[in-house]
Amino acid sequence: MSETFLSTNAEIAVLRNELEAQGKKLVLTNGVFDLLHVGHVRYLNEAKALGDCLVVAINGDESVRELKGPGRPVHTAEERAEILCGLESVDRVVVFHEKRASRVIEAVDPHIYTKGGDYTPDSLIDEEKQLLDRLGVEIRILSLVPGKSTSATLNQISEEDPDRQKKIAILGSGTGSNCLAILEAIESGKLETEVAVILSDVRDAGILDIARDHNISAIHIDPGTEKGGQLTDAAIKEIMDRLIASKVDLVVLAGFMRIVREPLMSQFPGKILNIHPSILPKYPGLNACRRAIEAGENESGCTIHLVDAGVDTGEILRQEAVPILEGDTPEALQARIQEQEHLAYPEEIAEQLAK
Ligand code: GRF
Repeated sequence: MSETFLSTNAEIAVLRNELEAQGKKLVLTNGVFDLLHVGHVRYLNEAKALGDCLVVAINGDESVRELKGPGRPVHTAEERAEILCGLESVDRVVVFHEKRASRVIEAVDPHIYTKGGDYTPDSLIDEEKQLLDRLGVEIRILSLVPGKSTSATLNQISEEDPDRQKKIAILGSGTGSNCLAILEAIESGKLETEVAVILSDVRDAGILDIARDHNISAIHIDPGTEKGGQLTDAAIKEIMDRLIASKVDLVVLAGFMRIVREPLMSQFPGKILNIHPSILPKYPGLNACRRAIEAGENESGCTIHLVDAGVDTGEILRQEAVPILEGDTPEALQARIQEQEHLAYPEEIAEQLAK
């Protein structure tokens, strides 16, 4: 019989009690661990340092297929267990066959449970969170190495094909006229890319109708807060997971009325664009057209910029001026600025994709 690197839940439960009798702590974490990278190794070292014995629960092959798609896992559960056992930090590996880790958490009843920093205690799956609270398990969220993930590794490998079609995602909260201009530029051959997914924080946003009309995956992300509020950690994580799963090269914000933040930004460094209806740094934020008119400006326009942690503060990539006319209203000015946006955005996206 060939050696197995997988332990059973019952074996781990015995181990747990032995450790407790010695005043020692069992740490449990779970995940897919399909293609090990330095992020995994550092994460597991950190997890082990929290206690005395580290148990890693890995998803069974069928649940990985369900979670990550038909091409995964790259390595079977037995192989993943063997690779993990080769790490100094890992003491035992168990497999669980459901999508969620609840059963294994219940069986192991660890002293400490850890998850990576793409989660927060609030964005843990409800079912798991409630169970951990009920068992009185200490939850620790550990930092992740920015940009390191199995999906990013796989994307990087597939990007090595020079003929690969580059892909973008579009995020918006409104009517989506910029999104439409981008799609028209693609259809007319002016912009060579594929829109892999369109995301919106507004369930009935026009931009999602545009996606459906063009047979593009249209996804509503529950922002978790009222209009104008911060995206919750769970919403940020869902956006990030969708973008990674769609394997996009560029993330295009087109009227997305929410602030994006970490850990999403580090997953796409220098790859998130936004368009704003003013000549930045003038009039960042809301009501840019009205403020430009009220300030007596004779010119405004649009700015395409990289997204950073601030509001409309990232590196400026392109600006188009639009004159402000006598008696202009914010709506009239906005409409003329949008005409420029619709020309400028597809051109800038093409330039960024060519980099
Ligand atoms: C654009 O005017 C853009 O400048 C601002 O939001 C507006 C989005 O409009 N960020 P639309 O949804 O693309 O029509």
